[in-house]
Amino acid sequence: MERFKNKNILITGSTSGIGQACAERFAKEGANIILNGRHFEDDEKQLIKKIEAYGNKVKFVQGDLSKGMDSLAILQQAIDAFGGLDILVNNAGVERSADFWDVTEEDYDLVMHTNLKGVFFGTQTFVKYCQKENKPGIIINMSSVHEEIIFPHFSAYCASKGALKMLMRNLATELAPLNIRINNVAPGAISTPINQKMMADKEKMKGLLENIPMKRMGTSDEVAGLVAFLASDDASYITGSTYFIDGGLTYHYEEQ
Ligand code: NAI
Repeated sequence: MERFKNKNILITGSTSGIGQACAERFAKEGANIILNGRHFEDDEKQLIKKIEAYGNKVKFVQGDLSKGMDSLAILQQAIDAFGGLDILVNNAGVERSADFWDVTEEDYDLVMHTNLKGVFFGTQTFVKYCQKENKPGIIINMSSVHEEIIFPHFSAYCASKGALKMLMRNLATELAPLNIRINNVAPGAISTPINQKMMADKEKMKGLLENIPMKRMGTSDEVAGLVAFLASDDASYITGSTYFIDGGLTYHYEEQ
């Protein structure tokens, strides 16, 4: 399947986990890929080779989405990389755990700047570009089930993902006349580096799995499949919604 042939796609935070899986999925389906990460070292060079093996163009844009207005520069470099950008996947995200009363301004800023401010102004740059070129666009935000359900001790994370829900809903209305679609993907528990600490804790894992109707974590590839669907022409009438991919976690009911 070559659903994304000649499409240029930026995936932020694509050097591990879900972002990397999305990059591989889009490359497999014919797209030119713009990778993004904060560091450019051996692992990133290996990743470029891996993605290039699918036979399409690959560019790495180094940049930190939590740093002020760097998101504008990241987007601009992505737009310039192959002479245009068709699809933006706002994937980069971080979480910090602490009791509410112990959350530092530093951790609050890191989470909010990466998960929200970077998305906000990166998306704005993409939209201005689409407007100027008079071309359609597709935006997918990597949100979380925690745009909807609580996650005690992760208050800044929940605040950032909850904001992403309303940002997406607002933009769906504002951007529809510009022929730009925007949706959120809301993963539940996915086995990626972000969950490394929890996955190493047997007790915590037991509690987590008991709470998931499908009794397992999801994979990055499963999330990438949903992202690819939402970015494809099969989703041409879909905008303004959140798509949960969570093994039933969000709205489950424990039968007694
Ligand atoms: P991950 O830690 O493997 O991936 C996060 C990626 O974002 C990494 O490549 C990291 O380098 C990058 N990143 C972090 N801060 C950045 C910054 N300031 N600038 C540029 N890149 C930055 O974790 P995962 O799970 O793949 O997370 C991807 C997204 O999925 C995040 O937005 C996360 O909130 C979301 N998510 C993940 C879930 C899970 O269970 N794994 C569940 C719900 C949402």
